Amino acid sequence: MTTAAKPTSEHLGSPVADYATATASHPSNAELINKRQQHFLPTALLYHAEPLQLVKAQGEYVWDSEGRRYLDAIGGIVCISAGHNHPRIKQALRQMLDDDAIQHTSTLYLSRYPVELAETLVAEAPDGLDRAAFTNSGSEANELALMAARHATGETIVLNLRHGYHGGTASTLAQCGHHNWRFRAQPNANAVSALEPYCYRCPFQQKPESCALECAQNVETTIQTATHGKIAAMIVEPVMGVGGFITPPPAYFTEITRIVHQYGGKYISDEVQTGAGRCSNDLLLSKALDIDADMITMAKGFGNGAAIGGVLMSSEIADALAGKLYFNTFGGDPYQTVQAKLTIDIIKQEKLADNAMAMGSRLLNGLRDLMPRHELIGDVRGRGLLMGIELVKDRKSKAYATTETARLMDICKDKGLLVGKGGLFGNVIRIAPPLSINADQVDQMIETIAGALHELAREA
Ligand SMILES: Cc1ncc(COP(=O)(O)O)c(C=O)c1O
Repeated sequence: MTTAAKPTSEHLGSPVADYATATASHPSNAELINKRQQHFLPTALLYHAEPLQLVKAQGEYVWDSEGRRYLDAIGGIVCISAGHNHPRIKQALRQMLDDDAIQHTSTLYLSRYPVELAETLVAEAPDGLDRAAFTNSGSEANELALMAARHATGETIVLNLRHGYHGGTASTLAQCGHHNWRFRAQPNANAVSALEPYCYRCPFQQKPESCALECAQNVETTIQTATHGKIAAMIVEPVMGVGGFITPPPAYFTEITRIVHQYGGKYISDEVQTGAGRCSNDLLLSKALDIDADMITMAKGFGNGAAIGGVLMSSEIADALAGKLYFNTFGGDPYQTVQAKLTIDIIKQEKLADNAMAMGSRLLNGLRDLMPRHELIGDVRGRGLLMGIELVKDRKSKAYATTETARLMDICKDKGLLVGKGGLFGNVIRIAPPLSINADQVDQMIETIAGALHELAREA
């Protein structure tokens, strides 16, 4: 194992910090890249032309193996809500280890931790969603929700949206609206796609002033023309994450939930990215937008980085599953459920959802202010601290600026800021920092992105 060489120059925009801890016997990046190539599947993605090895994290910052500090504006991948290594979560985990607390017990035994989490979560849920189940990931949460909807209705067809993403398992990939995530042998039975509510690239060529929610009407047309007239469910993200933070207007949800229910389906609101106080003053965006969901799924920020997913559902759906067995070995695991429960407590006690809304609006305004100076920015959109910048080669053609987006990410990284990307053609910068971010850090983010855009323009 080789240790990375100490950096010779100071990292742009952020000082070298706590070098000793950050570099404690980590293999070199070249070694890791080489071994990944030998042993990983070629499907594994790696961000950045010069990939990063992140080894330390605190609050809103992460450090690489060479001791460079970065403002983390993507939070793993939309996973850090309460902040990296929150002291209360660290203390609770440390105490459990010191006490030799049961490390693993499934739901076959009684345990206070998943019960306390269910109670906490249900208290934050929209009225009528009073049952909870826990999984290890967002994909599994959606699998369970899809299965429950199909079992409860006796129907099989599920509607999804083009540009949507719900996970990497078989039936969630069947609902995926991105060709690059789907495999040749992907079974797609009983999945039907409606057109996307993508205002910037409206499939109906409407403008906000002429829009009559044609995309919502399309859900009904799709059911009428591509199904036998009854459906099991529709699964939708309130803000479409992997799709590039496509943000439908609230009225869209009123209309499509009405249609889904009219045709006998259950509405699944996939809040894997939008939940945990990131997009509204409520913990769940579905509650804030008054979305009439029968099930809400969550993961990512719900556990602040812990491997946990969850499904909230109505008693009516839960009761329809009686007589069947569903078991998930690690679902409800003590260490994961403790972290999720504390994450929700911290979000509430530190008013992090309110902070996310205030900081999100500062960020949105700051990024929109950059538009007159930077033609490359086609659109800035999102809710709370889930913010996308869609880059286009020019505003008239809206041609996807895919290579420019990757380059912008790299320049931001070199300036000490980590952002993500998304969109069907990888041309949307994605920003989803910890909810604890402050005004100075938001301003630093905007300044860094502005500087990176200038640099990119000079390179062109
Ligand atoms: C909206 C949405 N749903 C589901 C998933 C799948 O979650 P996981 O990767 O935890 O299985 C993701 C992951 O990116 C997601 O963004």
